[in-house]
Amino acid sequence: MWGMIATWRMALEGVGKGAEMLRQGGDAGDAVERAVREVEDFPYYKSVGYGGLPNEDMEVELDAAFMDGDTLDIGAVAAIKDYANPVSIARRLSGEPVNSVLVGEGAERFAHKEGFERKNMLTDRAKAFYRKRKKEDEQELKPYKGHDTVGMVCLDQKGKMTAATSTSGLFMKKKGRVGDSPIAGSGFYADSKVGGASATGLGEDLMKGCISYEIVRLMKEGLHPQEACERAVLSLDRELKERRGKAGDLSLIAMNNKGEWGAATNIQGFSFVVAAEGAEPKVYLATLGEDGRCTFQEASREWMEDYMRTRMAPVEE
Ligand code: GLY
Repeated sequence: MWGMIATWRMALEGVGKGAEMLRQGGDAGDAVERAVREVEDFPYYKSVGYGGLPNEDMEVELDAAFMDGDTLDIGAVAAIKDYANPVSIARRLSGEPVNSVLVGEGAERFAHKEGFERKNMLTDRAKAFYRKRKKEDEQELKPYKGHDTVGMVCLDQKGKMTAATSTSGLFMKKKGRVGDSPIAGSGFYADSKVGGASATGLGEDLMKGCISYEIVRLMKEGLHPQEACERAVLSLDRELKERRGKAGDLSLIAMNNKGEWGAATNIQGFSFVVAAEGAEPKVYLATLGEDGRCTFQEASREWMEDYMRTRMAPVEE
């Protein structure tokens, strides 16, 4: 038994690579790192890695994390610049007994000493998005529509579970802003005795519910991943609206150590990818019902074609 689940359609190619490793008996740590790196390397995904959209100073500052569900080791980097694969740096940090979460210059120094690949992560395309956004009147802080963190949960044939995230965070964020993605329990959590979860959406709100840990906790109480995701998302969405008048985007995926999976969201248009034994990785689209519950359907061929076309369309400034 093995499986993998990831946020957003952009994870598909990476999940394909990771799933192949799992099928051949590979390790959940290696598979999830490989899968996230694939997303980080693709220049047309504008919220992760190379080609990620910059902060308000036109700098690409990246956040990433890795968690080993056997040992509960966690590694993370935040606001790191000029390194190609933040998830790999996070994974390396997860092996450190202390100093395993590093930010900014400290993270860059560690990456340099450890020989990680340096790269200017700001592409011409991302600069064009920046200039376009600068011209627009609306400067409201919100996640760039339809794109966000890649978050993954992975189960290998030995029963080991891992979780990993990678993101450029909010487009036009303040320099030094850190979202949920490198924060254990908020952006991700994995416990091989139970399962794992990962988040995408507005970090500032996801952190208010420590929502990935909450989902794992609910699974530990015996809930199916679907029930755990729905309960956690509905409850945080409700609390935020009641106390603050509004809730940011909250979308979660989870898998337990039996390979059962679930997803929930408070927005329309959330997509995610699932790979499991005996099936090709599939993209699902979530539809949010009026009762706040989600239904899923496999993405149509038209949707898939349209997705790539719009991702790669020229930026009209
Ligand atoms: N969920 C990603 C962020 O808020 O940075």
